[in-house]
Amino acid sequence: MKIVVIQGPNLNMLGVREQNIYGPMKLEDIHAQMKGFADQNKLEIEFFQSNLEGEIVDRIQECIGDADGIIINPAAYTHTSIAIRDALAAVQLPALEVHLSNIHQREEFRHKSLTAPVCAGQIVGMGPFGYHLAMVGMTQILSEVAAMKQAQQQAQQKA
Ligand code: DQA
Repeated sequence: MKIVVIQGPNLNMLGVREQNIYGPMKLEDIHAQMKGFADQNKLEIEFFQSNLEGEIVDRIQECIGDADGIIINPAAYTHTSIAIRDALAAVQLPALEVHLSNIHQREEFRHKSLTAPVCAGQIVGMGPFGYHLAMVGMTQILSEVAAMKQAQQQAQQKA
């Protein structure tokens, strides 16, 4: 099973940008923790960060036939990008949306997520730990999907 982690604009600046909101942890350290969890649970994991909307759309599209689930923090594009929402809807893979900060507690323009409605769930306000929660959540989703597929196969074999 493979999870692709997609990070939107300015998340490459974690540890430097607005530490009062996003904390001191760097993106590479968050990814190292996620990789540790993936290794322990025998999951494949790949990381991608871009400041460009089109590159994020391309990476989501590339998940077809390659990944089983997506963990995404679309960052500022959360609030603006119909293109990223459409890409997530198009690939029909389970996706979890993560935000380090509690977007619902911040400026009004951050309250709305265009991408959350096409995700299985959203984790906000837990800082870097939110990515760990997303890994736990995605592991659960993937095992449920696998169990469902197995049950369908068994039903087909009996029919
Ligand atoms: C963010 C919240 C967004 O509103 C903001 O534009 C970001 C980071 C978060 O993780 O809290 O860049 O996605």
